[in-house]
Amino acid sequence: MILQIMWVSWLMMLLSLCSVAASTARSAAKPGCVEKCGNVSVPYPFGIRKPSCAMNDYFYLNCTSNDELLFGRNMPISDISELEGTVTVGIDAAFRCYNKTGIETDSYPQSMTLGAGPFMFSHTRNIFTAIGCDTLAQVTNYEFTYRATCLSTCRENVEMSDENPCSGSGCCQTSIPKGLNSLNYSLSSPYNYTNISDFNRRGFAFLADNSSLKISDWPLSRTPKYGKDAYATDVVIEWVVENKTCEQAKADASAYACGANAGCTYPESGQGYRCSCNEGFEGNPYLQEGCQDKDECQVEGKKPCQEGTCENTIGNYKCRCPIGKYGDGKIRCKGVGIITIISGN
Ligand SMILES: *[C@@H]1O[C@H](CO)[C@@H](O)[C@H](O)[C@H]1NC(C)=O
Ligand SMILES: *[C@@H]1O[C@H](CO)[C@@H](O)[C@H](O)[C@H]1NC(C)=O
Ligand SMILES: *[C@@H]1O[C@H](CO)[C@@H](O)[C@H](O)[C@H]1NC(C)=O
Ligand SMILES: *[C@@H]1O[C@H](CO)[C@@H](O)[C@H](O)[C@H]1NC(C)=O
Ligand SMILES: *[C@@H]1O[C@H](CO)[C@@H](O)[C@H](O)[C@H]1NC(C)=O
Ligand SMILES: *[C@@H]1O[C@H](CO)[C@@H](O)[C@H](O)[C@H]1NC(C)=O
Ligand SMILES: *[C@@H]1O[C@H](CO)[C@@H](O)[C@H](O)[C@H]1NC(C)=O
Ligand SMILES: *[C@@H]1O[C@H](CO)[C@@H](O)[C@H](O)[C@H]1NC(C)=O
Repeated sequence: MILQIMWVSWLMMLLSLCSVAASTARSAAKPGCVEKCGNVSVPYPFGIRKPSCAMNDYFYLNCTSNDELLFGRNMPISDISELEGTVTVGIDAAFRCYNKTGIETDSYPQSMTLGAGPFMFSHTRNIFTAIGCDTLAQVTNYEFTYRATCLSTCRENVEMSDENPCSGSGCCQTSIPKGLNSLNYSLSSPYNYTNISDFNRRGFAFLADNSSLKISDWPLSRTPKYGKDAYATDVVIEWVVENKTCEQAKADASAYACGANAGCTYPESGQGYRCSCNEGFEGNPYLQEGCQDKDECQVEGKKPCQEGTCENTIGNYKCRCPIGKYGDGKIRCKGVGIITIISGN
């Protein structure tokens, strides 16, 4: 009998928890604004369709009539994370081709700027890569205050492998510095592919998200393509709200970007601040009511209580020990519980 009552109340609690969880699934866009462009979610501070949907003009993005989301004029966006402070865009690889007699026949340069907004190319996530057997690649910023080069050579065809990417010949990689907001790739060839033109007569250069880059996609024989068909790589852009310290930001309450139950944080790289939900809350920290209580009792794959029933509270949770037992169920309940007595019969 007692066991039955406990079952029913437990079920009822579970049901009520489920309905709470369902009602908190909310949009990451500003209230009244469109959240999706095609299948890409656009969380605030970014916005589309109406300038007032974004925090400011820097975060106002173009969702084209083909439902393509663009950063700047021509970088298609595949992902935006308001939690990590990143935007992933596609940028075409640069290339330069030669014919058998070592004459340059074609080139596709690449340069792009992130503009005056609080954006930069992630120096921790991206890596600059060149592919080719007589290939010198260089990346600079528009001001030419930064320059990194890498040289790749080989005498015979190289199989591109993901196991040991760029450890031998056929490609080379170099990191980029912190804080870059423009890029200019250039390619050249020390010997015009002399003597190797049977298997390699071109070089590619690109920046790419190291975690999604597959070097095996870049065989030496890869045919160059232009425009819409060009090979684009995923590049990670990092953003902050504004180039201010948290103290400076909080001093101007009307411009401070972090909502309720959120705090001001610093990104690992570069200057400026970001926001994140306080412990026990989750959601979009840039929206006034974005950070909502996290239901710790419903976190998948986690057992919040060692013993007893989990009970969610605002910003935290409790573990109620079974009737007859006492203590903190997050750690351990003490004593002999009623359920144990009944089931022991
Ligand atoms: C988004 O749409 C693009 C193009 O239609 C497609 O290639 C991609 O797989 C889609 N992504 C997701 C997560 O559905
Ligand atoms: C958005 O991008 C499209 C395609 O590039 C362009 O035609 C259009 O003018 C852009 N709109 C705005 C508001 O910049
Ligand atoms: C390479 O290009 C140059 C200039 O266009 C041309 O004179 C030469 O014949 C080409 N060589 C081959 C093997 O096509
Ligand atoms: C990129 O660099 C090349 C020379 O390496 C230069 O001619 C070109 O103007 C540069 N582009 C930009 C946008 O700075
Ligand atoms: C490569 O070709 C250029 C012209 O296309 C020429 O000026 C240069 O001397 C050549 N270099 C070598 C090493 O053959
Ligand atoms: C190309 O091969 C010739 C003949 O083997 C050699 O003399 C020359 O140095 C080679 N050039 C390069 C750039 O490897
Ligand atoms: C890139 O990723 C590979 C494997 O995922 C890792 O071994 C390597 O250290 C990474 N390189 C950088 C510069 O992060
Ligand atoms: C950010 O502000 C600091 C101090 O005002 C300044 O030195 C720095 O150049 C700024 N950085 C950027 C990327 O604007």
